[in-house]
Amino acid sequence: MAHSREAVLETLKEFLRFPSVSTDPAHAPDVRRAAEFTAGLLRSAGLDARLVESEGNHPLVRADWMGAPGKPTLLLYGHFDVQPPDPLDEWTSPPFEPEVRNGDIFARGACDDKGQVLIQIEALARLLSERGSLPVNVKILYEGEEETGGQHVTAYLAAHADELAADAALVCDTEMFAPDLPTICTGLRGIVYGELLVEGARTDLHSGVYGGAAPNPIQALATILAELKDRDGRIRIPGFLDRVRPPSPEERAAWARLPFDEAEYLEKEIGAPSLVGDPAIPVLERVWAQPTLEVHGIRGGFTGEGAKTVIPARALAKVSMRLVADQDPAEAAAMLSAAVERVCPPGVRAKYTAFHSGAPSLIDPSSPFIRAAASALTETFGVETVYMRSGGSIPIVGLFQKHLGIPSVLMGFGLPDDNLHAPNEKFHLENLHRGIDATARYLAKLGE
Ligand code: BES
Ligand code: ZN
Repeated sequence: MAHSREAVLETLKEFLRFPSVSTDPAHAPDVRRAAEFTAGLLRSAGLDARLVESEGNHPLVRADWMGAPGKPTLLLYGHFDVQPPDPLDEWTSPPFEPEVRNGDIFARGACDDKGQVLIQIEALARLLSERGSLPVNVKILYEGEEETGGQHVTAYLAAHADELAADAALVCDTEMFAPDLPTICTGLRGIVYGELLVEGARTDLHSGVYGGAAPNPIQALATILAELKDRDGRIRIPGFLDRVRPPSPEERAAWARLPFDEAEYLEKEIGAPSLVGDPAIPVLERVWAQPTLEVHGIRGGFTGEGAKTVIPARALAKVSMRLVADQDPAEAAAMLSAAVERVCPPGVRAKYTAFHSGAPSLIDPSSPFIRAAASALTETFGVETVYMRSGGSIPIVGLFQKHLGIPSVLMGFGLPDDNLHAPNEKFHLENLHRGIDATARYLAKLGE
């Protein structure tokens, strides 16, 4: 049966109540529950869904519907894991107790990516209930580790490339450029994520007794981080920028036509005193087509209430790089490691260790699968579809190209102010429903 808007909303609320934080081992049972729930939704839509297990990893959800011989096969991808919800005290309503306010549903994972996984499943449910069949063949691959690097899905894809063979992938995990502006994403940045560990003395030391003679790893960590970028934010890792492929003149011209106001962006999306980065490069190009080096957190020494006079023995920073075509994650990681060792001050040892990485991806908008998606979006929204890139990463997109030789259609319905990975993540309910409409329309179009 096609579900009413109310029924879809209730299903989304149930989905959002699982705290499926993939990076936290304590939440592994919740990730599994979210997987089972996802498989259950697929089954009630009429697909034969199953969990795929791998020791030490979160389960995948797989299903196939191959009842449209002669029609294209679409590989649907999404993820049911979420980022950690902290800082908890900045949420207006608790992250795993979904609440609707003003046409938006607030919860961790509302937009990234449970709301968007539900879009795909509801589109299938609707088509199957209305027609008794799907207009195209469909393979489902949903994972529970996207936010932590996708170990399981990466291995599974490499080992089951034949089983997953398809003509294109449909990924519902990106954003629209602006409200009411249907959008296809044609490029994602890659990523290298890891830890920078700096070690000094064997143990913590009294800062009065040893200060002046003992090295301070936190100070050294700050020095290393400061050396890796200049004051304007330009990355100073030798060779790092050599492979950066500039956007084509056509792409630059198209980006310049997008409705973008730098002052409004600063005010509404950033909320800092000013933007950073090379002012000679337009903002959209800086976030879509330039690499980054970011520090996500620093641990070390004494940060509790009050005072403690200590020289810590070690300090640690979580550091990532976002990469763009044609940069290579392994090469970039090696360059960062070498740069860290070169600028490391005396008295300490510093080492960068990457946890996970993913390649950048670019998608040719002239693919017939992209064109059909653009017209389905345009018909649904009643407005011409725009093309953008995103600064975020979805490592599987590069792997679909590599292992299956297929393009990914990045048709997403998040909004710029949906607070992905931040407190008060939300999803605009109108986009949930328009997403279902557009996805169903897209599949119908592909089947014509
Ligand atoms: N859905 C996002 C990626 C995204 C966000 C694409 C906004 C386009 C627009 C995805 O779930 C995500 O956050 N991925 C991680 C990947 C990483 C941990 C390997 C990211 O980009 O930080
Ligand atoms: Zn996501």
